[in-house]
Amino acid sequence: MKIFVDSADTAAIRRLAEAGLIDGVTTNPSLIAKAGADFLETVGELAAMVQGPVSAEVAATDYDGMMREAAVLAKIAPNVCIKLPLTMEGLRACRALRAEGRETNVTLCFTANQALLAAKADATYISPFVGRLDDINLDGGDLLRDIREIYDNYPALKTQILAASLRSANHVTDAARAGADAATMPPAVIESLVHHPLTEKGLSAFLDDWRRTGQRIA
Ligand code: E4P
Repeated sequence: MKIFVDSADTAAIRRLAEAGLIDGVTTNPSLIAKAGADFLETVGELAAMVQGPVSAEVAATDYDGMMREAAVLAKIAPNVCIKLPLTMEGLRACRALRAEGRETNVTLCFTANQALLAAKADATYISPFVGRLDDINLDGGDLLRDIREIYDNYPALKTQILAASLRSANHVTDAARAGADAATMPPAVIESLVHHPLTEKGLSAFLDDWRRTGQRIA
């Protein structure tokens, strides 16, 4: 499963990219607002930082506006993936951009039928929002499993499932078990995947014992 970081915090993303832990980046208008950064500049910086896709979301809601904004975003770098909302206009723009050879990420997916339509529009990625469903007491994991089953029923559909809105390490495990192709999560969730108290306790015991040997590796 590919791991994408869901953030517009360039310092945090750089740290993860340098550790070789991420395969791409997703952003959205809320994350750009939170970072207080210039959108186009940030997308350019991120696209230079990682080799994989950097999802940048259009703000227009009509087809012509989306296509105009997509052209601006696409010019930034070849690895910019155009993020489009799951609306009729968004799906239309998705199909048109795919015909031009652009990668697309269809976002704000909450049902398996929406995911089916995004795949029929040839989206590169579909982003089911797992955490936001869990927030309202629905099961985001069920949605991932339903989409996986449906896509696997129709091998001609090539859209990749990008589990989104993941809030915890358990969400990441669920996404991997459900067969998501990729998962996007905040930097803190990626960092939380590294830690286990027994790893830290074990390492500290090994280091104490090593010091007692008085040896050096040189
Ligand atoms: C996905 O591309 C979205 O940017 C993101 O995962 C939304 O997460 P949230 O529900 O935590 O805002």
